[in-house]
Amino acid sequence: MNAQTKTVKDYIRTIADFPHEGILFRDVTTLFADPRGFRMAIDQMLHPWAGQQIDKIVGLEARGFIIGGAIAHQLSKGFVPIRKKGKLPGQTISQSYTLEYGEAVMEMHEDAIQPGEKVLIVDDLLATGGTCGAGIKLIERVGGEIVGCSFVVDLPELGGRKLLEDLGMNVHVLCE
Ligand code: PRP
Ligand code: ADE
Repeated sequence: MNAQTKTVKDYIRTIADFPHEGILFRDVTTLFADPRGFRMAIDQMLHPWAGQQIDKIVGLEARGFIIGGAIAHQLSKGFVPIRKKGKLPGQTISQSYTLEYGEAVMEMHEDAIQPGEKVLIVDDLLATGGTCGAGIKLIERVGGEIVGCSFVVDLPELGGRKLLEDLGMNVHVLCE
């Protein structure tokens, strides 16, 4: 395919039966590995929030760290990780959630976001919305104000977008 006509979606690879049988895993490592694809994705993720006040970028473990670092650098804003249980060294707050293929707990440093700070949440993929929903609760529990949630991929059949929009979130995705 001609690199000039490739879209973000064209850089994403699908791997069947990972991490469990029946899951079609949308693998964004091939997008991140391509300099043109990665830049295109970051630029497109930034576009809808232009002109809005954003104080912190929150990235959801693990691929949200890659995207969030690039976006925070581009905007000259701070980056805050939301991680799986037991990974953060300081005082944390915790939130449990359900995944497409399991259950888990997300944590954030309790002092990572100050009350009233404007936050953009980023991740590679929106499936059931459970991970991002846990992130929203953590940010709101410390008084952060969420400007929006930005993803590379949405799996619409899993209902995550509706769940987040029903929570009042502005949701932006690059492809389905
Ligand atoms: C994937 C993806 C999102 C989450 C989306 O991460 O990167 O974070 O699932 O699913 P949801 O909308 O149903 O919550 P995963 O849980 O596989 O963790 P990892 O990034 O640490 O591999
Ligand atoms: N996280 C949850 N479901 C996923 C999928 N189908 N592909 C990649 N990451 C996921």
